[in-house]
Amino acid sequence: MTYAQYGDPSTLELTDAPTPRVGPGSVLIRVERAAVNPVDWKVMAGALEPLLDAVFPVIPGWDVAGVVEAVGPDTPEFSPGDRVAAYGRKDVVHGGTFAELVALPATSVAAIPEGVDVDSAAGLPLVGLTALRSLETLQLGAEDTLLIHAASGGVGHLAVQLAREIGARVIGTASEQNHERLRALGATPVLYGDGLVERVREIAPEGVSAVADFVGGVHEQTLQLLADGGRHVSIADHSVGESGGHVVWVRPDGARLRTLLEKVAAGTLEVEIDRVLPLAEAADAFAASRDGAARGKLLIDPTR
Ligand SMILES: NC(=O)c1ccc[n+]([C@@H]2O[C@H](COP(=O)([O-])OP(=O)(O)OC[C@H]3O[C@@H](n4cnc5c(N)ncnc54)[C@H](OP(=O)(O)O)[C@@H]3O)[C@@H](O)[C@H]2O)c1
Repeated sequence: MTYAQYGDPSTLELTDAPTPRVGPGSVLIRVERAAVNPVDWKVMAGALEPLLDAVFPVIPGWDVAGVVEAVGPDTPEFSPGDRVAAYGRKDVVHGGTFAELVALPATSVAAIPEGVDVDSAAGLPLVGLTALRSLETLQLGAEDTLLIHAASGGVGHLAVQLAREIGARVIGTASEQNHERLRALGATPVLYGDGLVERVREIAPEGVSAVADFVGGVHEQTLQLLADGGRHVSIADHSVGESGGHVVWVRPDGARLRTLLEKVAAGTLEVEIDRVLPLAEAADAFAASRDGAARGKLLIDPTR
């Protein structure tokens, strides 16, 4: 699946492309599933042009689960036939995961443990690593009360689970239809939008000690709710640095991804899947992600 210039998902087209080269320290993966993330259609719209070069035609997609087809010179970490997953962002936008084959640096790749299904492995990397990096940056501990803006999204639902595992109390914003899901994950749900500060204060009159913003546009509410000495991060609002917050940018990291996959294998972390679509329906998947029409991860199967 490729696009020849920045634009709308409707311009995605199925194309024949050469098999990617697999260089030193790299792995060629036969893709069984790719996952859709909001960044995919944002990149396609040109929103990341100031940060990342693109070489057209671009194959979109940064998340993958599949089987190692071949390894490059001096790549002892993996062998053909291994089941692997990766968050595969590269420095140049070009050869993504919406394809039959993708080549990635071994440092981005993790072996999938026994008992983890291919859908969970594909849906996990980008959002799981973002959730983990956010909580690590917050230095979240069991004594914390954490407010998560957009707790029901891809990043949010994993951050809720990781924070609860640490022992923190979690308050999460979501639309009404997702409140039951958040309760089941151990968070106290609140509606986002007007009146949010008052609703959170009813639950935590003393304020919260940490805030993770996974949506943007909520900086004011964050500052009103943070107790003295509180910490805050955002993955979507670059202005948080002005008030002592930290902007989190997820990094490819095979070792940390393996840690997350082991949690899935152990049953302590669950990746919610909305549905799996064939590669030819990638544009529909992009539109569903952009329009907020999915509950859980949207996956792409390039084998059908
Ligand atoms: N900086 C980074 O490294 C990084 C990494 C990953 C993602 N991101 C960005 O972070 C954002 C979230 O990513 P995602 O993968 O979690 O997206 P997602 O799965 O599409 O989830 C988006 C969530 O936002 C919630 N939402 C919509 N409007 C809201 C509002 N006004 N207040 C609070 N929540 C609201 C929705 O909740 P309901 O469905 O309950 O309404 C939905 O669950 C995207 O903008 C993405 O590009 C950045």
